[in-house]
Amino acid sequence: MKTFVIGIGGVTNGGKTTLAKNLQKHLPNCSIISQDDFFKPESEIDIDENGFLQYDVLEALNMDKMMSAISRWMENPGHSAGPAALESAQRVPILIIEGFLLFNYKPLDTIWNRSYFLTVPYEECKRRRSTRVYEPPDPPGYFDGHVWPMYLKHRQEMNTITWEIVYLDGTRSEEDLLSQVYEDVKQELEKQTGL
Ligand SMILES: Nc1ncnc2c1ncn2[C@@H]1O[C@H](COP(=O)(O)OP(=O)(O)OP(=O)(O)O)[C@@H](O)[C@H]1O
Ligand SMILES: [Mg+2]
Repeated sequence: MKTFVIGIGGVTNGGKTTLAKNLQKHLPNCSIISQDDFFKPESEIDIDENGFLQYDVLEALNMDKMMSAISRWMENPGHSAGPAALESAQRVPILIIEGFLLFNYKPLDTIWNRSYFLTVPYEECKRRRSTRVYEPPDPPGYFDGHVWPMYLKHRQEMNTITWEIVYLDGTRSEEDLLSQVYEDVKQELEKQTGL
């Protein structure tokens, strides 16, 4: 069976999870795998010389477990039977993988049918992050001492990427982002699957 895999990467608080959920509501036969769900327990997270837990790096994630979840979906794509099953069975199963470190993880490089990357400027990112409560909560200085520098480092590493990434302005409204990406996905689906 053909599948269509969408990557939504981007900065912390760029709106990745929000966009993925909004898209899922409008795309038939669409599943989401969130990198947010694959952080290692706090006891396994490295600490730097400033005492900051090193959460915004690949080593903080159980990527083997995430890859297993992706493989399980690939073996049996799409939702199980339900009232809409007959109709959606005729549609290409779509998987959205969303997270802040997708395009820096080589084993995923060949999986993407379409890649998006949400950006927001430093000030807005810091403001949004300060309105959220993470587990564990960000200590004072964490954004400038760990989160933003790691983001810049990962952006830098993305310079070597060879496939197309569609950059999205995360300061646009949820609705605008949804309609931009929805239209683009529809076009790409038609192009790539011939449907
Ligand atoms: N288009 C948008 N415009 C303004 N605020 C937004 C937009 N999308 C999401 N937000 C808000 O920004 C915050 C982060 O959203 P979201 O959790 O979707 O981002 P994320 O990139 O998944 O963040 P995280 O780094 O925690 O995984 C939330 O408070 C959300 O309500
Ligand atoms: Mg998220």
